[in-house]
Amino acid sequence: MPQSFENVIVETRDRIATVIVNRPDRLNALNAATVRELDRAFRDVAADEEALGVVLTGAGEKAFVAGADIAELAQMGPIDGVAVSRLGQEAFRFLESMGKPVIAAVNGFALGGGLELALACHLRVAAERARFGLPEVKLGIIPGYGGTVRLPRIVGRGRALELILTGEMIDAAEAHRIGLVNRVVANGTALDEALALMTKILANGPVALRLALESVDHGWDASLRDGLTLESSLFGLLATTGDMREGMTAFLEKREPRFTGR
Ligand code: COA
Repeated sequence: MPQSFENVIVETRDRIATVIVNRPDRLNALNAATVRELDRAFRDVAADEEALGVVLTGAGEKAFVAGADIAELAQMGPIDGVAVSRLGQEAFRFLESMGKPVIAAVNGFALGGGLELALACHLRVAAERARFGLPEVKLGIIPGYGGTVRLPRIVGRGRALELILTGEMIDAAEAHRIGLVNRVVANGTALDEALALMTKILANGPVALRLALESVDHGWDASLRDGLTLESSLFGLLATTGDMREGMTAFLEKREPRFTGR
């Protein structure tokens, strides 16, 4: 049963759950209440058998998410600081590892915690007007929702450190050039383009998608040996599925496959 939230909207249609951060008057900045709502929304979507993929975006034209809520952060002491960071890290890690593909539709500013949220998604589609940055050092803090860990893994250490240490923003074209976003699309179309990309993804075998995500997620920080071992085990596991037989039979019969997720 979908829950109702103050600052988050979840809409499920055609097997895709769209999760919208909805605080446009604050440029969708993440206060603690919104992070808690996102965590609950992600858990709902994970449990929802109707939702096979997730698209995440921000309300309004201007921002995806312009970071953690600075008014709230300004009140924080050291113990709260660790708790705030852990809260976001756990929510974002849940999203990243729940076994359903997730695309960020970056419709505008993705700064600080907003960029970190996009980094926890598997793919990123950006509007031309989108801007990306980790401005935390300008506020005397560092990224606390996984940015220092995920950004170097996605764009390389030197490029990540340039963004982290300067706090400067880059535009969508530069984000595309350094591999931070998968594609750049016209303003106002990021959500539709992300939904279209997800529809293409969801035409593929559902078990294969889940195990591909698991293998890549495990390989992200495993040794080469461990990563390869898990990959071959999962590859073997797929040979037990009806979906593998259906996918290969459909190819040989020159028709579209009808996957059942079994
Ligand atoms: N936390 C709290 N409030 C925020 C916010 C944030 N991260 N980002 C924007 N807002 C608020 C602004 O304070 C402003 O509120 P006001 O209308 O009461 O003055 C409102 O959202 C609109 O933002 P504004 O700054 O007027 O828009 P702009 O077009 O001039 O600038 C940004 C846009 C994104 C460049 C600017 O808002 C900004 O730098 N935001 C902070 C980004 C940041 O440092 N994030 C990391 C936090 S760790």
